[in-house]
Amino acid sequence: MTVGRLPNALIIGVKKGGTRALLEFLRLHPDVRAVGSEPHFFDRHYKRGLNWYRSLMPKALEGQIIMEKTPRYFVTREAPGRVYAMSQDVKLIVVVRDPITRAISDYAQIASKTPSVASFESLVLRNGTVDSLWSPVYIGLYAHHLQNWLEHFSLSQIHFVHGERLVSDPAGEMAWVQDFLGLQRIVTHEHFYFNQTKGFPCLKKPEGSSKPHCLGNTKGRLHPKIRPQVLQILRDFYRPHNKRFYRMVGLNFGW
Ligand code: A3P
Repeated sequence: MTVGRLPNALIIGVKKGGTRALLEFLRLHPDVRAVGSEPHFFDRHYKRGLNWYRSLMPKALEGQIIMEKTPRYFVTREAPGRVYAMSQDVKLIVVVRDPITRAISDYAQIASKTPSVASFESLVLRNGTVDSLWSPVYIGLYAHHLQNWLEHFSLSQIHFVHGERLVSDPAGEMAWVQDFLGLQRIVTHEHFYFNQTKGFPCLKKPEGSSKPHCLGNTKGRLHPKIRPQVLQILRDFYRPHNKRFYRMVGLNFGW
């Protein structure tokens, strides 16, 4: 057993993309060891140093992959350089989801914590135009954030998980992720079932248990209904950003 290795792979984003689901699914793999909580090392706690970070990592056997997920890394300007200083060949995973649904999901999370928050519409628009600096909007400017990572890492080191497909075809998305990580395809359709009540795929047998398990109530929240006119403004706003992102990664996510 080796103690205190640094991670070989990171789920760096995006917030509300389905990062918890992905990490839970990856933990089914016998060659993956992952930190359960979000360490926030490369954004908030960088001053604590690599030894602190290393101490958070689970024990792992030779050959096992050590992972953590902190979705804020993707949008943190300093994160790519700091990650690169730790390891030049770390594998990076980003779960991406339609930035509009992502923004609404982000807002639903804010509203669940602060019920008195103003309406989505009043926050997303300023004098009729989209407030690109409002965090739920800003996080969805994927091309902008990716640009920072490409200053240090090549595209071949970054794998993009299609957030919508992680819901509609978890086993299919997991096959690509396992290939990217150089893992055998052990997590397959046999691990999942679709739970009608939850409205999401759930695990037949999560790590360390034999009972079926869905993610908790903070995953799969009810979204507020947004007027079609506002959705159209958001679609027009994100279109060029999405196109640029598709060009950069050579994939069309169909948003
Ligand atoms: P919603 O709550 O808006 O539906 P994150 O873990 O990055 O915060 O992402 C949360 C999102 O993960 C949820 O957003 C949900 O849509 C998505 N998700 C993907 N697969 C899921 C699953 N199997 N169970 C629950 N949520 C899942």
